Amino acid sequence: KNSAKGNNSTITVIGLDLGTTFCSVGVFHPGSGEVEVIADEEGRKSIPSAVSFTNTAVLAGHEAVDLADTNPQNTIYDAKRFIGKIFEPEVLETESARYPFKVGHPGAEFVISTNHTFTVSPEFIGSRLLLKMRKMAERQLGVLVNKAVISVPAEFDERQRNYTVRAANLAGLEVLRVINEPTAAAMAYGLHKVDVFNVLVVDLGGGTLDVSLLNKQGGMFLTRAMAGNVVTIRVPLHLHTLDSSEGSTPPVLFQAVITRKLFEELNEDLFQKILAPVETVLAEGHLEKEEVDEIVLVGGSTRIPRIRRLIREYFGKDPNTSVDPDLAVVTGVAIQAGIMGGSWPLQVSALEIPNRHLRKTNFS
Ligand SMILES: *[C@@H]1O[C@H](CO)[C@@H](O)[C@H](O)[C@H]1NC(C)=O
Ligand SMILES: *[C@@H]1O[C@H](CO)[C@@H](O)[C@H](O)[C@H]1NC(C)=O
Ligand SMILES: *[C@@H]1O[C@H](CO)[C@@H](O)[C@H](O)[C@H]1NC(C)=O
Repeated sequence: KNSAKGNNSTITVIGLDLGTTFCSVGVFHPGSGEVEVIADEEGRKSIPSAVSFTNTAVLAGHEAVDLADTNPQNTIYDAKRFIGKIFEPEVLETESARYPFKVGHPGAEFVISTNHTFTVSPEFIGSRLLLKMRKMAERQLGVLVNKAVISVPAEFDERQRNYTVRAANLAGLEVLRVINEPTAAAMAYGLHKVDVFNVLVVDLGGGTLDVSLLNKQGGMFLTRAMAGNVVTIRVPLHLHTLDSSEGSTPPVLFQAVITRKLFEELNEDLFQKILAPVETVLAEGHLEKEEVDEIVLVGGSTRIPRIRRLIREYFGKDPNTSVDPDLAVVTGVAIQAGIMGGSWPLQVSALEIPNRHLRKTNFS
């Protein structure tokens, strides 16, 4: 029946990063020892976390985003913010008001109105994204895939984890392990293999900052503390107007210097907002900043040079930045998938100790 078997038949487990704004899928190649983040037909290594419903189709990823303008009420994004969560009706109403689509009652279900009206759950939205990634992996590897490791935010409770697993099940995937995103990021840097004790993970993606303090005990990571903040990065758009009104274009270098200085001034309060949760996790973890062995940066916004400098100056050492910050989590999940698939030696097969009693400090 299943004829799709190629020379990648050793790969049976994929690694999935189901992000709030973007998703990625990766695999570990036992032969080369390398992780491959799988690209779509157009070479893109992430797909937007959006699903759009029309009268005739359910589209996921870039195709869904293409419909966001013409079909806004039926194009769902940010579903991860709702998955497995129980909301008070008033809270749900406030949430619903933030989006062009309708978040219905009593559960956080999305109300779709094509030429008939129905509701879909956040885990169904997740499943369409996971299915899309499963297909991308199957196409690239030439094998059928039905097992996965998936990452979730460290703060996800058991219910949110269960519903994330349910999303994967709906996409025809058996989940072998759910791992925390900061742990995955640390693994992307190989920190499970080297002699480190305390790892600080700074994740600055879309609009949220998440700081986690990991502690490695006997080869396994334990989340010791976590804290978060909502941050808005302001881009000086008016600068373009300013430049053109001068009548001539300044040299590129000059332009870049001005832009960065202005950019940094505009975001000074943001940079201070980053240090508050860092200090909180250190205090809660009873750790001096000098005791942090490695600092891992995740999320596209950690590319901002001022943010890297801020971290470097605070800790007096360079953060780990060699892995693409948008792909660090999927890279780590793919490594864990390789371990679960038996491609790694057994002694590193269990890499995370669940910490059920941990609470996250939020600054906003
Ligand atoms: C639903 O939409 C499709 C596509 O636009 C259309 O062909 C069909 O007639 C519609 N059905 C009803 C019952 O309105
Ligand atoms: C999560 O799933 C497990 C295993 O199916 C189940 O035992 C547990 O009760 C679930 N917990 C919640 C909070 O849904
Ligand atoms: C990053 O992580 C590796 C461990 O894989 C370590 O050897 C390296 O020194 C780290 N630090 C920096 C700044 O790259």
